[in-house]
Amino acid sequence: MGRPDGAWTGRAPGRVNLIGEHVDYLGGVVLPAAVDRFTTVTGCPAGDWSIESEVPGGLAYARAVGDELGVPPQELRVTSDVPPGSGLSSSAALLVAVAAGLRPDLPGAEAALLCQRAEQRATGVQVGVMDQFASALGRRGHALLLDCGTLEHRLVPFPDDLVIAVIDSGVHRSLADTPYNQRRREAESGMPKRRRHVESELERVHAFVAALEAGDRPALGELLVASHRSLRDDFEVSTPAVDALVERAWAAPGCLGARIMGAGFGGSILALLEPGAEAELTAALGDAPVRFCRTADGAFPPSPPEGEVRGGGERYL
Ligand code: GLA
Repeated sequence: MGRPDGAWTGRAPGRVNLIGEHVDYLGGVVLPAAVDRFTTVTGCPAGDWSIESEVPGGLAYARAVGDELGVPPQELRVTSDVPPGSGLSSSAALLVAVAAGLRPDLPGAEAALLCQRAEQRATGVQVGVMDQFASALGRRGHALLLDCGTLEHRLVPFPDDLVIAVIDSGVHRSLADTPYNQRRREAESGMPKRRRHVESELERVHAFVAALEAGDRPALGELLVASHRSLRDDFEVSTPAVDALVERAWAAPGCLGARIMGAGFGGSILALLEPGAEAELTAALGDAPVRFCRTADGAFPPSPPEGEVRGGGERYL
């Protein structure tokens, strides 16, 4: 922004979700973190929208952000090391990078909300706001505790030496081809198994934050295992192939715990490891690719200091 030819660059990270799965669209509390895989978009005004990108459906995403912002058509070039379809939210990284490039002056929370609307508009999938918030407002050395009902959020310190591993199940899918909207409707309508997952998962988010604050690493692992069982048995978003990988991760020396992460139906698995346990996890998983990540800064500057209340009803935890 600001260059005479109107050219701009925006950069935004992918994310992991530590815990709080399939609760964001119900106004629940989630604990994602931005991670050190980034999408960079350069753009300039043009006669029509165009994009050079490896992210599937990238043009529809970018255009939808442009429509939300009310900007003229842009010619875009995308480079990214957020692997599409693997659960690190390549779509949020792309959306937020476009928003950050075009409107770096926006408050991060506002940018996240408009990116959520853009994703819903581009795909027809009624996604929650977790991924966009994490990509916009995550911070290095922290996870982001976000109440998706009130949008209150605060950073929770995440230890630098705890290893975040993201295991690629090899099943890369677009959310539009999954029963994501159906699961959302089932949970909203109060279907007992779905509600049981949501209620137990919300308890686990709070317990996970308490365990992080207490430095209780075994408890973090136990909560991941319980979350996986609940996503597998009550929310029914896992697959036998993912379950098999999760069980191999559970058995790996130094692995605190693991669970299916993100929307599910394939995608990726999150594991947390004691430092130095990387090689043993990789060996335990055979051919499944593992990416080791660190927490990273989101695309937008941090929110105002804790406790500050801003106009528009947005509060910070
Ligand atoms: C996807 C959606 C998120 C969230 C997760 C499940 O990543 O984009 O909004 O609903 O699935 O927790």
